[in-house]
Amino acid sequence: MSKWVQGKVVGHRRWTDRLHSLQVEAPEVTFIAGQFGRLALPAPPGSKEEMLGRPYSFVNAPDTAPHEFYFVTVPDGPLTARLAALSPGDPIWLLRTANGFFSVGELPDADALWCLSTGTGLGPFLSIVRTPDPWARFGRIVLVHAVRYGNELTYRDVIAGIGTAHPGAFTYIPMVSREARPGALAGRIPAAISDGSLEFRAGLALAAENSHIMLCGNPAMVDDTQKALAARGMRRHRRREPGHVTVETYW
Ligand SMILES: Cc1cc2nc3c(=O)[nH]c(=O)nc-3n(C[C@H](O)[C@H](O)[C@H](O)COP(=O)(O)OP(=O)(O)OC[C@H]3O[C@@H](n4cnc5c(N)ncnc54)[C@H](O)[C@@H]3O)c2cc1C
Ligand SMILES: NC(=O)c1ccc[n+]([C@@H]2O[C@H](COP(=O)([O-])OP(=O)(O)OC[C@H]3O[C@@H](n4cnc5c(N)ncnc54)[C@H](OP(=O)(O)O)[C@@H]3O)[C@@H](O)[C@H]2O)c1
Repeated sequence: MSKWVQGKVVGHRRWTDRLHSLQVEAPEVTFIAGQFGRLALPAPPGSKEEMLGRPYSFVNAPDTAPHEFYFVTVPDGPLTARLAALSPGDPIWLLRTANGFFSVGELPDADALWCLSTGTGLGPFLSIVRTPDPWARFGRIVLVHAVRYGNELTYRDVIAGIGTAHPGAFTYIPMVSREARPGALAGRIPAAISDGSLEFRAGLALAAENSHIMLCGNPAMVDDTQKALAARGMRRHRRREPGHVTVETYW
């Protein structure tokens, strides 16, 4: 049996000229919120592999259909340019099984969960907060979405729905680094941790005693944020050595 499952594109939302969400029907493919699957299209002629595949985080909750993936077209990216051209009805291939440990079941107990993302790193957090699990484990959840420009603050309707479903427990903080945007924090996540502006905006202390932090997106953000958190005595969480920070990098 081929490891690839053929799915069907059933929706394609174009948020900006570079940001897309694909909805894909593939009921055989299952996952835990926070995990990533693999999307693929037939490889160009002459390639060593049969399929050109890349990992993508699931954005939908595990018990919902269709599956959803949120991606950015990267300059000269071999797969994203082709994904961006897909339309409803087109075939797309997925690995049958999902992967990754970026999920609530892997986290230690804490009072507050901070979900810090850049760009398309928002995706797995949307899946996580759409399940009951984090709300049963953490009294407060803070979701930060940091982007370059205001029009990249996507999924605002979904995020507003989360706030309505969990009054008093959920805080969404948009951040925009390359233009002024009313309502959004300016700059980058690590600086906003170091100068206290992120905590001030959340109305919540970010401290080793009460918090767990999940980081997803740009690897430079993940590195720099871990340094800012280390200054507060917070270290990487591992199964054998519990800590405060759980990470997923996209490249
Ligand atoms: C565990 C995991 C989960 C991922 N989930 C997602 C996801 O949900 N959405 C998503 O858009 N991408 C995700 N990625 C990245 C994705 O797998 C591809 O690398 C990306 O879509 C580009 O594919 P490509 O073939 O066009 O170019 P590639 O040859 O794969 O990448 C070219 C270059 O583009 C840059 N790049 C790659 N991904 C991104 C990104 N997301 N944002 C900014 N720059 C990037 C890097 O500099 C990379 O070296 C994930 C990666 C990993 C490892
Ligand atoms: N967004 C665009 O308009 C655009 C245009 C052309 C090409 N691209 C390419 O598209 C890809 C994805 O771009 P993207 O905008 O989605 O993602 P991105 O480059 O990861 O930027 C998202 C956010 O992460 C911040 N960031 C970057 N490095 C950081 C660090 N070390 N610490 C903390 N925060 C950091 C950025 O701040 P800063 O703004 O301060 O960097 C921005 O606010 C990249 O390969 C990029 O080169 C993007």
